[in-house]
Amino acid sequence: MAYDGQSNAAICMEGGKCLDGTVLIQGSKNAALPVLAASVLIPDTCVFKNVPYITDIDCMKNLLKSTGAVLEEHKEAHMIRIHSENIREYRLPARYVSAMRSSVVLMGALLGRLGEALVDYPGGCVIGERPIDLHLFGLEKLGAQIWTDKNRIHAYADELKGALIKFPFPSVGATQNTILAAVTARGTTVIKNAAREPEVTALCDFLNKAGADIEIGHDFIATGRIVIHGVDISRLHGVEYTVIPDRIVAGTYMFAVLCAGGNITLENAPAAQLRSVCALIRKMGADVVLDDENDRILVSTDTKQIIQNVPFVETGVYPEFPTDLQSPLLASACVSKGTLILKERIFSSRFKVVEELVRMGADITALDNERVQVRGVAKLAGRTVIAQELRGGAALVIAGLAADGITTVTDTRYIKRGYQDIVGDLERLGARISYVD
Ligand code: EPZ
Repeated sequence: MAYDGQSNAAICMEGGKCLDGTVLIQGSKNAALPVLAASVLIPDTCVFKNVPYITDIDCMKNLLKSTGAVLEEHKEAHMIRIHSENIREYRLPARYVSAMRSSVVLMGALLGRLGEALVDYPGGCVIGERPIDLHLFGLEKLGAQIWTDKNRIHAYADELKGALIKFPFPSVGATQNTILAAVTARGTTVIKNAAREPEVTALCDFLNKAGADIEIGHDFIATGRIVIHGVDISRLHGVEYTVIPDRIVAGTYMFAVLCAGGNITLENAPAAQLRSVCALIRKMGADVVLDDENDRILVSTDTKQIIQNVPFVETGVYPEFPTDLQSPLLASACVSKGTLILKERIFSSRFKVVEELVRMGADITALDNERVQVRGVAKLAGRTVIAQELRGGAALVIAGLAADGITTVTDTRYIKRGYQDIVGDLERLGARISYVD
């Protein structure tokens, strides 16, 4: 059954078969969302290519339409044309804001375009409380006045002015929100300790192509320094932009090989963004070849090699090991030899998937709020398990590849928020997997 973003069909797979083949990596969810939001700033037409067809993008499209943007979609070409000449509505509909936290980056774009934004508080989610104090900190530094009540945030700015903004923590969303508001502010903004994630750099690349004036030095990873020289909105113009590949989807499939074994090639894969992940997977015993030139990653585990857990891994901000690959790593650790202690340092409760993995026979113990201990077992047992959030859901799918018998993952709507077609991708890699109603 082909991908259908609207259905909540379960995913069913039979484990025990090695992966073998080539798969093309989709466009990045976390890069596409902020650049689509950025189109609100540009009183012109932008064309976006390699847009992933996932439900979070559907949500962003509805939010953009609610501001007055006119969208033309060419699904089969993964292309969206956005006409933002007549953006007029600064109030975002609650139903879409609450459906997707990253809607909050529209605040910066609306402030920059209309001088006002009214959004609902994007609530917490199953991976933890997700406050937006750093977003509001950045916007207030730029001169926005912000009123909040229990569930709405109203931001207003007569005029946004450049400022020096030092983030106490390099929040990805807060960095993106601040950049969007600073693009047309009067004067220069210097951000210190900005998030270094590739999705932040991609946003700056897009904005510069559209006429903004943003400087990111070669030492950006070390300094986290971004300088934004405000430009008049009339300087901003439409561009044709191709969304970068999704490093988290690529990493998920790399861990799928550790679960099921085999030999895969990831095409259009952001090899340079996955160095920490590749280093770890090599240490666990797989062969990894990064072909930066051709955006290709080869991962293989031959039957002689034992996939071994490393003793300790902790998540961190880029370029450290990414929190979004913590659950896929956890799934592969369940069937690797030896013991891993895994520490989640970014989100406050990102181990919800543990209970479902344990039901499949994994040996996982919570050591405290931040750490779990995984002891590898020879095999997991196929079960019907429930996806509770995006990356945990993907982890259950790759765990099913390693399990004896049939695994069915339900509530796959969470997975479709970020994976365009995890079933089709894994099928192309030789997995026995399908959607089932
Ligand atoms: C982005 O979320 C990604 N989402 C997340 O991916 C990713 O896990 C995260 O960055 C970290 O890399 C998108 O890009 C759409 P943060 P974001 O602000 O911007 C705390 C996925 O699976 N914080 O860097 O929300 C926050 O609570 C998703 O694709 C504050 O305290 O991440 C969290 O503990 C999940 N105050 C930590 O910082 C704030 O104002 C990291 O959050 C903002 C954040």
